[in-house]
Amino acid sequence: MSKRLVVIIGVLSLVAGSITLGLATGGQAGPPGPDAAALWKFFTQVSPYQQWGYFPDHKGMRPGRAPHGPLHKVFVNKVGLSAKKVPYAYGTIVVKDNYNKARKLVAITVMFKVKGYNPSAGDWYWVMYKPGGKVGRAGKVKGCIKCHAAVKNQDWVFVHKF
Ligand code: HEC
Repeated sequence: MSKRLVVIIGVLSLVAGSITLGLATGGQAGPPGPDAAALWKFFTQVSPYQQWGYFPDHKGMRPGRAPHGPLHKVFVNKVGLSAKKVPYAYGTIVVKDNYNKARKLVAITVMFKVKGYNPSAGDWYWVMYKPGGKVGRAGKVKGCIKCHAAVKNQDWVFVHKF
């Protein structure tokens, strides 16, 4: 086989491989597992969260309560927005931008529904990030769970009612 033919075959199989991969993942890689760094990368780069939607009953900048701060926006991915009733489907990601009074972003808090991760608390993976992605808290965070338990019947989500 000529060198040139080998190169052509090589390139063709690379193209075919990436097309197959693209089709298998719907053109986009899905969310990772309960891994704060990978999750940050996913919702800031792979599927930028500020381009997701809002819950129909919680759009745009809204006033909030302690401990999250005075103002916030809550973004929800497609899987979460397509829910018709609780519980939300696995793969749901809810990202909350928390602002201070001066409308400066001070923290990003996230709930990510992961199959089998924590069945006694809705299988949510909890994370608090600083702007830029530094992880404050992550996992089965007791503080988050204890307070959000008040809305267990809404699958632990405060701002949206079905
Ligand atoms: C003392 C109560 C309390 C604690 C602790 C708490 N939250 Fe919340 N959280 C709320 C309330 C109330 C809302 C509704 C929005 C608002 O008022 O800010 C909310 C909203 C959210 C939302 C938007 C979805 C929803 O439930 O409405 C996310 C995401 C979230 N919190 C993540 C977290 C994470 C992660 C932690 C822990 C690091 C945490 N929360 C700790 C009370 C709490």
